[in-house]
Amino acid sequence: MKTRKVGIIGVGHVGSHCALAMILQGACDELTLVDIDKQKAKSQAIDCMDTISFLPHRTIIKDGEIDDLTDMDIIVISVGNLTADKNRLNELKGSIEMVKSFVPQIVKNGFKGIFVVITNPVDIVTYYVQKLSGFPHNRVIGTGTGLDSARLRKVLSQTTNVDPRSIQAFMLGEHGDSQVANFSTGTINCKPILDYLKENEDTIGKLDLDQLEHKVAQGAWDIYAGKNCTEYGIGCTCSDLVQNIFHNERRVIACSAYLQGEYDYEGIYIGVPAIIGKDGLETIIELPLDERERTKFKKSCEIMSSYIEMAKN
Ligand code: 2OP
Repeated sequence: MKTRKVGIIGVGHVGSHCALAMILQGACDELTLVDIDKQKAKSQAIDCMDTISFLPHRTIIKDGEIDDLTDMDIIVISVGNLTADKNRLNELKGSIEMVKSFVPQIVKNGFKGIFVVITNPVDIVTYYVQKLSGFPHNRVIGTGTGLDSARLRKVLSQTTNVDPRSIQAFMLGEHGDSQVANFSTGTINCKPILDYLKENEDTIGKLDLDQLEHKVAQGAWDIYAGKNCTEYGIGCTCSDLVQNIFHNERRVIACSAYLQGEYDYEGIYIGVPAIIGKDGLETIIELPLDERERTKFKKSCEIMSSYIEMAKN
């Protein structure tokens, strides 16, 4: 029987919660934690091991080095720190330097699995991890607007009192300020969101959708305000993606994917819904956007293109 192995590079707030979410959900069989601070990787691993007696499944947890990751099925990249300036794009230079320091080594060692990138600005860093690795685009995926889409469902659920799992709606575009809410094709309790709002004119029908979109896009900073990081939501976003791959679920989720003409754009990684399975990204789902969404999504793509250019210098 095959052991499902995941390596995580960078086990601060984000990486350690990715590890914990995967352990609690039984997402993999073996987890190797790597960090530039070796003691931190060791301590996080030991702390994680203390959970195993309480769980219905066993995960083997280790700490290790980059060179221990060669036979992983999935490598999660969660290095980096978000600074307090509330702009993920400002992390670009430092993040690119970090991934440059280990991605070529991992590839040279013979890693044949899938990269899952979380490091911000995630859409640009995912682009660079693909470039540095030379891997096919389906085997390099960013968490993208997966987390923002969960935040959108949360906010809609809080407003409507509908279970978030009965809400289908995606945030598209940059995992950052320029993301756009896809209200036009989303559903609440299987009904189009816009119809649902009309039917409830006196209550949630009054919802200001622009304001709601803004609230979701700024969701990270409400968390950041009190704890200087976000960690639980992204941990579950990562674990969900990993399970989708290992179980070959082929479930549609929002992630950062490489556009090759979809949505009339190409050459960038950006948040879109996609089918994910055992080989990584299978198909990007092209939603029929309305005029507002199309314009905002195009703007978001242009911002991503300009940052890719900037990072080249
Ligand atoms: C988040 O959205 C900060 O990207 C991180 O939670």
